Amino acid sequence: MKQILKQLETMRETARQGGGARRIEAQHAKGKLTARERVDLLLDEGSFEEFDMFVEHRATDFGMAEQKVPGDGVVTGWGTINGRTVFVFSKDFTVFGGSLSSAHAQKILKVQRQALKMGAPIIGLFDAGGARIQEGVDSLAGYADIFLENTLASGVIPQIAVIMGPCAGGDVYSPAIMDFIFMVKDTSYMYVTGPDVVKTVTHEDVTHEDLGGYRVHAMKSGVADGAFENDLEAMTQVRRLVDFLPTSNRERPPVRVSFDEAEREEPSLDTLVPANPNKPYDMKELILKVVDEADFFEISPDFAKNIICGFARMDGQPVGIVANQPQVLAGVLDIDASRKAARFVRFCDAFEIPLVTFVDVPGFMPGTRQEQGGLIRHGAKLLFAYAEATVPKITIITRKAYGGAYDVMSSKHIRGDLNYAWPTAEIAVMGSKGAVEIIFRNQTPEELVAREAEYKERFANPFVAAARGYIDDVIMPHGTRRRIVRGLRSLKGKTLSNPWKKHDNIPL
Ligand code: HXC
Repeated sequence: MKQILKQLETMRETARQGGGARRIEAQHAKGKLTARERVDLLLDEGSFEEFDMFVEHRATDFGMAEQKVPGDGVVTGWGTINGRTVFVFSKDFTVFGGSLSSAHAQKILKVQRQALKMGAPIIGLFDAGGARIQEGVDSLAGYADIFLENTLASGVIPQIAVIMGPCAGGDVYSPAIMDFIFMVKDTSYMYVTGPDVVKTVTHEDVTHEDLGGYRVHAMKSGVADGAFENDLEAMTQVRRLVDFLPTSNRERPPVRVSFDEAEREEPSLDTLVPANPNKPYDMKELILKVVDEADFFEISPDFAKNIICGFARMDGQPVGIVANQPQVLAGVLDIDASRKAARFVRFCDAFEIPLVTFVDVPGFMPGTRQEQGGLIRHGAKLLFAYAEATVPKITIITRKAYGGAYDVMSSKHIRGDLNYAWPTAEIAVMGSKGAVEIIFRNQTPEELVAREAEYKERFANPFVAAARGYIDDVIMPHGTRRRIVRGLRSLKGKTLSNPWKKHDNIPL
C-alpha cells in the first residue's frame, strides 16, 4: 500500500511540473505565473479540487508518441471564491505552448458541462497558442465542441476569460463567446493569427503588442473588458467581480450586509452639475458617492469612455450601473458606447441584476464616420437591450436627455420602472441653440437670442416631462442614494416577461 501511495505522489509531482523546470523558469522570466500558481491565487486557499491530472494526449504523428506530459497542457477542476463554487480551467503554456489537443479539449469540456449542470460560474485562464498543430482536425473538433458549450452556457452561468499570455485561434474565439474578457498588460496578446502568419499572408510587419496587446483590445477594439498590471492583480480583480455576480440564472445576485447607511444623503451632489450646460463634470463622482462604500467594479474603463458601465451595490444588493460621462465627448452616444453599454445591459438582464442608469446625454454622435460605421444599427443595440430588459430599471436624469438618446437611456417609454430627474435636467429634442436655429432659421441673430431663451424656459427643464408622467418625480440630488435604495426595495417583487419567442433578433 505504502508503495502505491508513494507512486501516486510521484505521478502527481510529475504532473505538477508541467513542461519542466526550464520552461517554468522561462514562464517566470516573462513575468508570468504558471497555470497552477494562477489557480492558487484565484481560488480560496486549499479549495481547489483537480480533475484529470493524469490525462495524456493520444497523438502519434510527428514523434508525439514519445512526448507525453500528464495533464496535457491544461489544469482543470473546481474550487471556491469567498465560499461560492466556481469551475476553472487554466492553460499551461509550458506544455506545447498550452495548445489544444483532443484530450486537452475533453478536459475543458468536462468542467464546462459540470459548471452548467451545477449552475456555477466558469473561469478560463488562457495562455495558449491555439490548435495543437500536430493533431490537425482533432484539435479543430475539440475547439468546436468547446465553442458549443460556451454558447449553450451563455446567459445561464457567468463565463469569465482572462488572457494571460499570447493567445491565438481557438484561444481567442472561446473567450469571445464568454461574458467578460480581461487581459494582463504587456504579457498577454489576442489575435486570430499571430505576427508570423500575418507576415506570410499580408507581408505586414507587426509586433505582438500592435496586433493584439491590451492597448488594442482594452482601448480600441473593445474586445477586452479591462486590463490589469500583472497576474496577481488579475486574479484578485476576478475574485472581486465574481462577488457581484449570481452563480447562475437560477440564483439571485448575492446580497451582502452593507455598512453604508441606506438613507445616506450626499449634500455635495447639489452642486455637482455646473450652471453652464456646456461645462463637463465627472459622472464617476456621482456614482462613487451614491453606491455602497464607493465600491465600483468598472467594465471596459478604457474603451468608449463616454459611457460608464460597471457593478456596484446599493443597500447590499448588486446593481449594474450605466452612465453617460459628460467629461468625454460630452457623453454622446456613438457606435462604441452603444455596443459597450448594450452588451452590459444584456448581461445584467440575463442574470437578474437591476439596472441603475444616470443620464446626461446630448444625443447620438453626428457625422459621416459614425453613419458609415453603422451607427443606426449599433445605436439600436442599446435601445433594444434596454427595451427587452425585464429587470428592475431605475433612471436618474441629471442634466441633458436630448433626442433619441432620451428614449434609449432607460426611459419610461421602454419600461423604465422609476424615472427620476434632478431639477437641473433638460429633456428636449435637442439643445436650445440648435433647436431655434432650425425652427426660426430666417430670424436675425438678436431675435434668435430671445427665441433661445424662450425655448430654454419652455423645454430645458424636467417639468414638461414630469407633467406628462414620463418622469415620476423631480428629486433633490442629495437624496439620490435614498431614492434609489427605496426604489430597489419597492421593485423586489417585480415580475415582467416578454412575449414567447424562440429568441429575439437583436440588431447585431
Ligand atoms: C503545438 C505549439 C503551438 C501550437 C506553440 N507551440 N504553439 N505547439 N501547437 N499551436 C509550442 C512551441 O513549439 C514551443 O514548444 C512552445 O509551444 C512555446 O512556443 P514559442 O513559439 O517558443 O513561444 P512564443 O515565442 O512565446 O510564441 C507563442 C505563440 C507562437 C505566439 C503562441 O508559438 C505561435 O504563433 N504559435 C502558433 C499559433 C497558431 O497559429 N495557432 C494555430 C491557430 S488556428 P517548445 O517545445 O519549444 O517549448 C486555431 C484553430 C482553431 O487555433 C480556430 C477556431 C476558430
